[in-house]
Amino acid sequence: MMTNSLTQRRSVLAALSTLPWLSSAWAQGTMSHDMSAMPGMPEMPAMSGMAGMHSGAEAVTALAPVEAIAAGAPLAALKKLVNTSSKPGVFRASLRAAPVSLAVMQDGTQTEFWAYNDSLPGPLIEVMEGDTVEIEFINALPQPSTIHWHGLPIPSEQDGNPQDAVPAGGRRVYRFTLPMNCAGTYWYHPHPHGLTAEQVYRGLAGLFIVRAKNDPLHAIPERHLVCSDLRLSADGRIPANGANDEMNGREGQFALVNAQRQPVLSFDAGGRERWRIWNANSARYLRLTLPGATFTLVGTDGGLLEKPVTGLSELMMAAAQRIEVIVDAPASGGVVGLVTSPVERGKMGMVPPEYPITLLTVDFSAVKPERLAALPALPSSLRHIQPLGAAKAKKRVVFSELMSMAGGVHSMKFLLNGQTFDMQRVDFTSRINEVELWEIVNEADMDHPFHIHGTQFQVVEREMDGKVTPEPLLAWRDIVNTRSGETVRLKLVQRHKGLRMFHCHVLEHENAGMMGQVNVI
Ligand code: C2O
Ligand code: CU
Ligand code: CU
Repeated sequence: MMTNSLTQRRSVLAALSTLPWLSSAWAQGTMSHDMSAMPGMPEMPAMSGMAGMHSGAEAVTALAPVEAIAAGAPLAALKKLVNTSSKPGVFRASLRAAPVSLAVMQDGTQTEFWAYNDSLPGPLIEVMEGDTVEIEFINALPQPSTIHWHGLPIPSEQDGNPQDAVPAGGRRVYRFTLPMNCAGTYWYHPHPHGLTAEQVYRGLAGLFIVRAKNDPLHAIPERHLVCSDLRLSADGRIPANGANDEMNGREGQFALVNAQRQPVLSFDAGGRERWRIWNANSARYLRLTLPGATFTLVGTDGGLLEKPVTGLSELMMAAAQRIEVIVDAPASGGVVGLVTSPVERGKMGMVPPEYPITLLTVDFSAVKPERLAALPALPSSLRHIQPLGAAKAKKRVVFSELMSMAGGVHSMKFLLNGQTFDMQRVDFTSRINEVELWEIVNEADMDHPFHIHGTQFQVVEREMDGKVTPEPLLAWRDIVNTRSGETVRLKLVQRHKGLRMFHCHVLEHENAGMMGQVNVI
């Protein structure tokens, strides 16, 4: 029944493009060019403006204006999870996921978040390579949950798969020993079946850093910037997703850093900092610029690059991606905004115009110009990355989208190899310790960031319109964006047996079933 009413989305889109709403107020630019001037604007009415395309019960909620959260406070350091173990090489602590009321709006209105240890973002876990980690998870949510250790090379039964949900009111211990050579910038978040997106947008996500004993950049002062998204209604609630969110991925009106709106980063007087940046957004991509300054990319999700990449004026980060960059204070000094500009990622439907957002301001005034001239050159080699050898097996993952208009109700299907996720179905089998070539084909109209659990991968090449571009960077990643029409080829090895998920990391798409599982034997 469903199949008859499913139409190839391309043709549907072509038909829709003649509808009048496309040239309506949104496109006419009747909105102010400042996102902060959207007081009381109704939540995206999603597709409800289109006759007969309303998708069920969709409350139109007035959103809080962007000024509802105060800007300009000093950037807060991340709260660290305290290690309660006195044994060397063991990190032991507990994380409790629970509702918590916090007044983030200036007028004191309370918002009910769901948070780990009452902290937004969730506490930072900092360990060394080779450490054993033991986290007791207490689920005080009204729903099942798990903790997924995004990007870490740990056994699958400890990785918070949807199959291993901890029921509401339940608890369990996650225990794993980190291998050597996995130093990098990771995070953790829930992964229960069908509930991941909601639990994350209510506040559940925390940070995880694995350090190496010999880190060539250890002397540079380190800064942590966690970019996350928040939507609040005018009355301080976190509204549920609407049809537009389910389609394009949720983007709130607040783009926060360390859960603050536009905080001020007082740059180190020495003139150089190492930034670890997390894109912890459900869907928002980042395109970061810092006028006057250039970035030197030194690390990706899975740790340091072989060599620094200097002179970057812009940093692109798909949802869930992490990077490490070195920032040198510009000679011009001053106070400069770290801005994220809109990324064209093929959003559909009635998309309001998007404008650059200042995520934080960087105050360079403490930097003495004479210090800048004295900054030492960065090491030309950061670490050795062994390119993965010849692939013994191949996997092919195709992302696609289908629009359904069954019974006049509009909905979108997000497919992986033509299917939606089924916990009972194993999509692929892989052999432990065997190099595989994965080909990720994006046949959809939207970009989709590919992610696989349990290992880091090396991107080999990208193909677009028949043109193959070898990947210039030898790097360890667990997220790679696939553009509409693009094929990305990557190599990976799984070093533990068991079930692993792979999916689009726009959480609404993952939730909708753009996910598969591979059994490693
Ligand atoms: Cu952040 Cu299934 O992952
Ligand atoms: Cu993951
Ligand atoms: Cu997606």
